[in-house]
Amino acid sequence: MAMLVTAPASAGTTLGASAAEKGRYFGTAVAAHKLSDNTYVTILNREFTSVTAENEMKWDATEPSRGTFTFTNGDRIVNHARQRGMAVRGHALLWHAQQPGWAQSLSGSALRAAAMNHVTQVATYYRGKIHSWDVVNEAFADGSSGGRRDSNLQRTGNDWIEVAFRTARAADPNAKLCYNDYNTDGINAKSTGIYNMVRDFKARGVPIDCVGLQSHLSNSVPSDYQANIQRFADLGVDVQITELDISGSNQANVYASVTRACLAVSRCTGITVWGIRDSDSWRTGQNPLLFDGSGNKKPAYTSTLDALNGGGTTVPTTPPTTPPSTPPATTPPPTSGPGGCTATVSLDTWTDGFVATVTVTAGASAITSWRVTIPLPSGATVTNSWSATTTGTTGTTQWTNVSYNGTVAAGQSTGFGFQGTGTVTGLNPTCTAG
Ligand code: XIL
Repeated sequence: MAMLVTAPASAGTTLGASAAEKGRYFGTAVAAHKLSDNTYVTILNREFTSVTAENEMKWDATEPSRGTFTFTNGDRIVNHARQRGMAVRGHALLWHAQQPGWAQSLSGSALRAAAMNHVTQVATYYRGKIHSWDVVNEAFADGSSGGRRDSNLQRTGNDWIEVAFRTARAADPNAKLCYNDYNTDGINAKSTGIYNMVRDFKARGVPIDCVGLQSHLSNSVPSDYQANIQRFADLGVDVQITELDISGSNQANVYASVTRACLAVSRCTGITVWGIRDSDSWRTGQNPLLFDGSGNKKPAYTSTLDALNGGGTTVPTTPPTTPPSTPPATTPPPTSGPGGCTATVSLDTWTDGFVATVTVTAGASAITSWRVTIPLPSGATVTNSWSATTTGTTGTTQWTNVSYNGTVAAGQSTGFGFQGTGTVTGLNPTCTAG
């Protein structure tokens, strides 16, 4: 009698290929200065389908002085990845650590404005190239409080996280927007605080798409790790394992358990390890990665690969792919203003609220100040703004530059933004240059 033979699922021979067979990415943190190390690059190119800049996209790296942006090292990583079809995770737009000195010394509305301008500028610069952004990193406190960590950003007001997500959405509508943290791997007070925030964001239409579990682990994984991933997934967000590294003699088993937990939840869309070789790890001396200092595969590599090839009963969505190199246009062509500048608005709206991100572009000659006039429809009220001074919160609003963004070279752009309540479907800005 004829037998129907079901071909066994093919077993991949690299982390990236095996994860892809399960519809997921397998990524690593990358340091730009190591891209000239042959052993490092050989493993990177062979094994991984996603990269995260280990430090190069953080605030201190990308905006070392206020309003001056440096993307050289971030671009080296992005270009390396895109040329080889790897996806890129963006890490991290706002964080209490690794802030430039000038931001550390700001507070209140000045810090809020600078922070949201940072989000806008960096997310806009990389628009179309990032599959997921860690919009906010490590904003919750350790321990039993379940509340926010104290920081200069937190002291600008509890709404700083949601304003950051709305601002990021306006700047890059296609990136998945993540909240990322550590010690959140099991069900505990900290992860529950984040869970409650995500549930609240979903209920109020704050744009959040994913939660990152850093998963810096020591010899074991919480027994409710998969249940924790599942409860976030059940809120309607993806979960990504974002910075996995595991110390201790039980390492190989723990890597396998983490991998199987992710494969068991369809919305767990990818795993990133925080470095390639043990010698690349930030956890000096703990050897928490998948390759030894010489680039040899460790038992943890084999157990992870085996878990990828064996596990996985659910088929999630297609893994992220590299988007086309030309970002889609999201704003209408500029309308000419009476002076030497133009303004365009990108709008992110939700029920009874909006974020407007305004780009101001100098004409054929440099400008030293600008004013943008924006009529708001009735019922719309500005509640918060950044990187501009406003006259009026309803009706015809006027926006003038602040000290650091008035000077714009010919053809170059700067920006500001505001948030409000009410229904707005489109805005018509006019720009006047000084
Ligand atoms: C670490 C980097 O690996 C180090 O090179 C750097 O000196 C400090 O930051 N959580 C995070 C990561 O979100 O950005 C951190 O990366 C590790 C902890």
